[in-house]
Amino acid sequence: MGPPRGPLCWLLLLLTAACSGILLALYSSAVGPYPGPRSGARNATWSGTFFGREVSNAGTRKSPHCRHPLSLAIQKHPHFRALFNLSTPVLLSGGLFARELWDSLSQYKAPYGWQGLSFQAINSTLSLLNDSESSKLFAASGKPLPNCVRCAVVGNGGILNGSRQGLNIDAHDYVFRLNGAVIKGFEKDVGTKTSFYGFTVNTMKNSLISYGNLGFTSVPQGQDLRYIFIPSDIRDYVMLRSAILGVPVPEGPDRGDSPARTAGTAAGPAPPPSACSPTCPTTARAALSTSSTGPRPQTYFGPEASAGKFKLLHPHFIGYLRERFLKSKLMNTNFGDLYMPSTGALMLLTALHTCDQVSAYGFITSNYWKFSDHYFERIKKPLIFYVNHDLSLEATLWKDLHKAGILRLYQR
Ligand SMILES: *[C@@H]1O[C@H](CO)[C@@H](O)[C@H](O)[C@H]1NC(C)=O
Ligand SMILES: *[C@@H]1O[C@H](CO)[C@@H](O)[C@H](O)[C@H]1NC(C)=O
Ligand SMILES: *[C@@H]1O[C@H](CO)[C@@H](O)[C@H](O)[C@H]1NC(C)=O
Ligand SMILES: *[C@@H]1O[C@H](CO)[C@@H](O)[C@H](O)[C@H]1NC(C)=O
Ligand SMILES: *[C@@H]1O[C@H](CO)[C@@H](O)[C@H](O)[C@H]1NC(C)=O
Repeated sequence: MGPPRGPLCWLLLLLTAACSGILLALYSSAVGPYPGPRSGARNATWSGTFFGREVSNAGTRKSPHCRHPLSLAIQKHPHFRALFNLSTPVLLSGGLFARELWDSLSQYKAPYGWQGLSFQAINSTLSLLNDSESSKLFAASGKPLPNCVRCAVVGNGGILNGSRQGLNIDAHDYVFRLNGAVIKGFEKDVGTKTSFYGFTVNTMKNSLISYGNLGFTSVPQGQDLRYIFIPSDIRDYVMLRSAILGVPVPEGPDRGDSPARTAGTAAGPAPPPSACSPTCPTTARAALSTSSTGPRPQTYFGPEASAGKFKLLHPHFIGYLRERFLKSKLMNTNFGDLYMPSTGALMLLTALHTCDQVSAYGFITSNYWKFSDHYFERIKKPLIFYVNHDLSLEATLWKDLHKAGILRLYQR
């Protein structure tokens, strides 16, 4: 969730829309007015043949010890039972990379695949994800896994302002956060614990730019914290590789960024605030980033940036989520290529496929209009629905999963 703010971004959005010869439509429940199915639509056939090898989200599910495991709630629900496949691999690690995987995923555009990306770039990144931790979300680094893995996923919705949910959030075994996850000054409302931080390079950098003046001055860091890369672009693979190697990004729009602090390099100051938001289209963003040049390099991931610190969502998992849970009507419009599940949705669905119990905080609810877009805003800003995400569809999904007892959605 993160509509653009300020006239600059509006202008850029409109320019982007105009250039593509399309009308930038704000959300309405009727997407009918859009032109019919676009030609050259992505091949949306998904089958179980995308994985070179058998894997599981092993070591994560110990539900027999849970009082109310979500897997049981799924089994009891005819609709969701048909959607969930809890064996679908959530993460992609080096051991899964093979020719067959390349051949199948190179048919699909990022974030669902590797169409147009170089084999060498993908292979060189994945071959670094060879740590045993890379294939599991909850790697037992010395610590035994709890018998019942309880997770909180903290979105950035305005519903959390004044919620006093901090202690409840921190009481979970694992806490997922994403994008502009401001903590300082909001500890009572959002807690302090962060086990996972999820992002695309695009949303991360733009959160730093857009919310820097609201307190998001650095990406969360910590010894026990793990990063979940959403592979929405070649940038994510390149940044991930540089982060593991501890070298500056060698190429592309992030060239010169020093993702991990290495001996002798100091963290650069946060980039200055600007008018654009994490969900602005890339074209608008590119225009902006050349117009507001922040000091570089920015250090993102802290000092101990070893391979085990980074997780990569499997492109096929993202495709599976889109097909089964978030198959938006927007996909059949001229905006189809802009559409993908939001970062928050990807994190919440990741938790639902790996934890035994999941609570969602700061996610969109039916009374979203009562709250500001984000909890950390100083002045109330309405949530605006853009065409790159389908927040209405996501809201319905969270409500239905809550009703089915599969997750607990914080509402007020
Ligand atoms: C989609 O991919 C499948 C499997 O590769 C293929 O059989 C099918 O013809 C493709 N459909 C389209 C519309 O390209
Ligand atoms: C669930 O996913 C696994 C892994 O991809 C696959 O082997 C299995 O056939 C799937 N199960 C169903 C019922 O689709
Ligand atoms: C990936 O690259 C490594 C060398 O870095 C090579 O040994 C391996 O065979 C490559 N993988 C594939 C599937 O070609
Ligand atoms: C992973 O790959 C790197 C670089 O190729 C190598 O140095 C390291 O020993 C490998 N680690 C494991 C656990 O195989
Ligand atoms: C946050 O909540 C306080 C009251 O708890 C309210 O006064 C303030 O306007 C809210 N901020 C926004 C941006 O809605």
